[in-house]
Amino acid sequence: MRALDSIAPTLVTLAAVGIAAAALLAPVDAAAQPSKVKIGLMLPYTGTYAALGTAITNGFKLAIDENSGKLGGREIEYFTVDDESDPAKAPDNANKLVKRDQVDVLVGTVHSGVALAMAKIARDTNTLLIVPNAGADDITGSLCAANVFRSSFSNSQMGIAMGKVMAEQKKKTAVTLTWKYAAGDESVGGFKEAFEAAGGKVIKALSLPFPQVEFQPYLTAIAALKPDVVYAFFAGGGAVKFVKDYAAAGLNRTIPLVGPGFLTDGTLEAQGETAQGLLTTLHYGDGLDNPRNIAFRAAYVKAFKSEPDVYAVQGFDAAQLLIAGMNAVKGDLTKRAELVKAMEESKLDSPRGSFALTRSHNPIHDIYLRKVEGGQNKVIAVAVKNLTDPPRGCKL
Ligand code: PHB
Repeated sequence: MRALDSIAPTLVTLAAVGIAAAALLAPVDAAAQPSKVKIGLMLPYTGTYAALGTAITNGFKLAIDENSGKLGGREIEYFTVDDESDPAKAPDNANKLVKRDQVDVLVGTVHSGVALAMAKIARDTNTLLIVPNAGADDITGSLCAANVFRSSFSNSQMGIAMGKVMAEQKKKTAVTLTWKYAAGDESVGGFKEAFEAAGGKVIKALSLPFPQVEFQPYLTAIAALKPDVVYAFFAGGGAVKFVKDYAAAGLNRTIPLVGPGFLTDGTLEAQGETAQGLLTTLHYGDGLDNPRNIAFRAAYVKAFKSEPDVYAVQGFDAAQLLIAGMNAVKGDLTKRAELVKAMEESKLDSPRGSFALTRSHNPIHDIYLRKVEGGQNKVIAVAVKNLTDPPRGCKL
């Protein structure tokens, strides 16, 4: 036996016991010392959508920083997973955040296929999910849920807007080209629906697997088909290459290329001259002249030394949505119904212009017609005012 063990308790040890006992008896002031809110960011940080994931993360953190770095008065702890835009890895990745890290809120992602898997896990585990980009129509359609929100758009919205604009511009025939997965299919689906409803005809729907970028055979097919217009869905690194290849093939001189704004958002520096004059439809434009956008852009450039894009806006709005909910319950996540109600009823002051949500938790917003001019996506008109989605089987 060591000498110390046999020493009778001293005053010091008695005092320590007293303090410990007092601590056990004192009421715990949860409001004064709450635990951190755990936020799981599941986004692409590698691959063709890497820049999109970074912009969303930056936008999200900017809104939180402007809110004193807190949610409903509570500190935040971030958990981050690179989802690689790979749907096959999506269940494991989402479970890392939900089951291993036990996050309170999931934020993600960019790729519709990955987001559909996240939405399933969020439903199964009743985890709050905010989708800051992926437009899969079903997420706020047949798969809608009280705990699933979207701060971005649904895929068909941009196609619907551009189909209408192209019909108004008296285009008669179109070819569509996209990566073959939910986002592209729904985007060109919206275009076809609106364009054909107004008398146009999609004469060929071309596609290639995500994230392939060997566009040459498709450009050759387009040259032979000679449509009045080409509507293409690509984003991130793939959009940079596609717009450059389209111009290199000389097609930009003969067949106008249009698309959802993702074709030219966050990509203009890399696309350079090849993007000049392109028309796109999107719920955001660089020079939108509202005070929120002006302040947002200045703060983003200051914080990240780069220009924001639509993805940064969507990340910013995802955080704004969560702030609205968390403030309403003063950070108490057990008050889920109240939190959801506050999110549902929020009218967000977004850089895109203020917007509300549909009953199925998707933004109702203006879709702008934009033209690339001098390194900017300039808004030249409102293509569709206050575009809202049909319920698409959502029962909430
Ligand atoms: C999607 O997969 O839903 C998606 C990806 C990138 C975009 C837009 C939509 O820019």
